[in-house]
Amino acid sequence: MHLISLSLPLTALSLVTPSLGYPQLNTARLLSRTNSIESRADAVKEAFVHAWEGYKRYAYPHDELHPISNGFGDSRNGWGASTVDALSTAIIMGNATIVNQILDHIAQIDYSKTKDEVSLFETTIRYLGGMLSGYDLLKGPASGLAEDPEKVERLLTQSEKLADVLKFAFDTPSGVPYNNLNISSRGNDGSETNGLAVTGTLVLEWTRLSDLTNDPEYAQLSQKAESYLLNPKPESAQPFKGLVGSQINIANGQFADGHVSWDGGDDSFYEYLIKMYVYNPQKYALYRDRWVDAAESTIKHLASHPSTRPDLTFLSSYDNGQYSLNSQHLTCFDGGSFLLGGTVLDRQDFINFGLDLVNGCHATYNQTLTGIGPESFGWDPKSVPADQKALYERAGFYITNGAYILRPEVIESFYYAWRVTGKEIYREWVWNGFLAINKYCRTASGFAGLTDVNAANGGDRYDNQESFLFAEVLKYIYLTFAPEGEWQVQRGDGNKFVYNTEAHPIQVA
Ligand SMILES: *[C@@H]1O[C@H](CO)[C@@H](O)[C@H](O)[C@H]1NC(C)=O
Ligand SMILES: *[C@@H]1O[C@H](CO)[C@@H](O)[C@H](O)[C@H]1NC(C)=O
Ligand SMILES: *[C@@H]1O[C@H](CO)[C@@H](O)[C@H](O)[C@H]1NC(C)=O
Repeated sequence: MHLISLSLPLTALSLVTPSLGYPQLNTARLLSRTNSIESRADAVKEAFVHAWEGYKRYAYPHDELHPISNGFGDSRNGWGASTVDALSTAIIMGNATIVNQILDHIAQIDYSKTKDEVSLFETTIRYLGGMLSGYDLLKGPASGLAEDPEKVERLLTQSEKLADVLKFAFDTPSGVPYNNLNISSRGNDGSETNGLAVTGTLVLEWTRLSDLTNDPEYAQLSQKAESYLLNPKPESAQPFKGLVGSQINIANGQFADGHVSWDGGDDSFYEYLIKMYVYNPQKYALYRDRWVDAAESTIKHLASHPSTRPDLTFLSSYDNGQYSLNSQHLTCFDGGSFLLGGTVLDRQDFINFGLDLVNGCHATYNQTLTGIGPESFGWDPKSVPADQKALYERAGFYITNGAYILRPEVIESFYYAWRVTGKEIYREWVWNGFLAINKYCRTASGFAGLTDVNAANGGDRYDNQESFLFAEVLKYIYLTFAPEGEWQVQRGDGNKFVYNTEAHPIQVA
């Protein structure tokens, strides 16, 4: 899952120092002896049940658990974000108890009411994506899990209700939506532009909703907005073929800049280009072509190798003749995107480049004291902080923000590398990530973020457990050790499901 800028959520979070005594559980020691694939899959299920039971006890039906104080937060409109985000993972893990608890909750959410501003993007990827995925799985390969078929149907009617609440966002002169909405006044925050990722990460969910309901309106709204991204104007919006600027004017659909990256804010626009093609190759060939253009230009223009570690590959960003040698944890979905595109389109050059990116992101994990990678990092030889010269020499990067807020992208790309190559090393990397998360983030009721992945013991803790811990982190880890299933990412063009950016599998058309 992508986009959220770190400065926002973290200022609202209380810091808790390790000395306050969150338990350093023995789980890490036990897990390090877990060697068979089956026992590893069971260990991930145990972690999920641990987090679910802590959330259920202290925070349900609020949006998220505060895993140190055992309080709760409502950062996603109070509709139960962790509950909805956990559904598709609980289904894939086959836990009927949790699945039915979640279905009971979703059936009675009132999406027409909230006291806070609504993000069209966040609501689409977490709530709409979570419900549509639950519907696809429970009507399809996981049809035995739900007790009440009526509650499965409610997933679709609730999805429609939610989209009907949100769709006024697209009612603008261009059809490019506002992202920040007041659903009671049908108002917005008055922005003149909307971001690339938030505009371009709606089309999979809204198209799926149309295909399931036979009501073309949702697909049309999201695809109209997307049309400006597929045919960028003016010319300066596309400094390299396929790579486009990051802000779109809501009045006329023209780009307002030519700043190019795969970082948060831009990221999942590129992710969804190839995923729309996987969803329906007959209808979305133009999306594929645009992804191929972006991927080729990225290899040519954005690939960057640290002076001290020329063996590593990161993606720089570009604006008006200048390159910035900085990247983010969020950006590390990029390896997975190249691997998916490479295998689906049978392009070994994309697969190889995807593995290079995976390798670079792995370096950000295995070179820190905790074995977890930082929120953001740089490799500009002119900007190395004095106290990080040794790290830059050895590892090829320095840390610009050392937080870890339970993000999935690095492990997500390891999972794609495992599925596409079948090489055990990538499974080991996933397992090592899981061990580190258990060792440093696990609390008595769930999992907490770290303030500094390169400090002894991870520094302090953030008293917050984002809903994407359930939707993404634990899902991608589990899938790596889980048996074959229709929802697993496949080599070649045999995918029956495609994952939205919140890791909710959507059945292909
Ligand atoms: C499923 O979830 C329930 C409720 O949290 C838990 O008690 C149970 O142990 C879980 N089952 C498995 C097989 O993990
Ligand atoms: C939404 O608009 C209503 C009516 O103008 C106002 O009372 C409310 O405070 C607004 N909500 C937010 C989150 O701004
Ligand atoms: C990091 O990973 C690389 C690639 O697998 C490996 O060669 C190296 O030994 C690892 N370093 C550490 C400190 O774990």
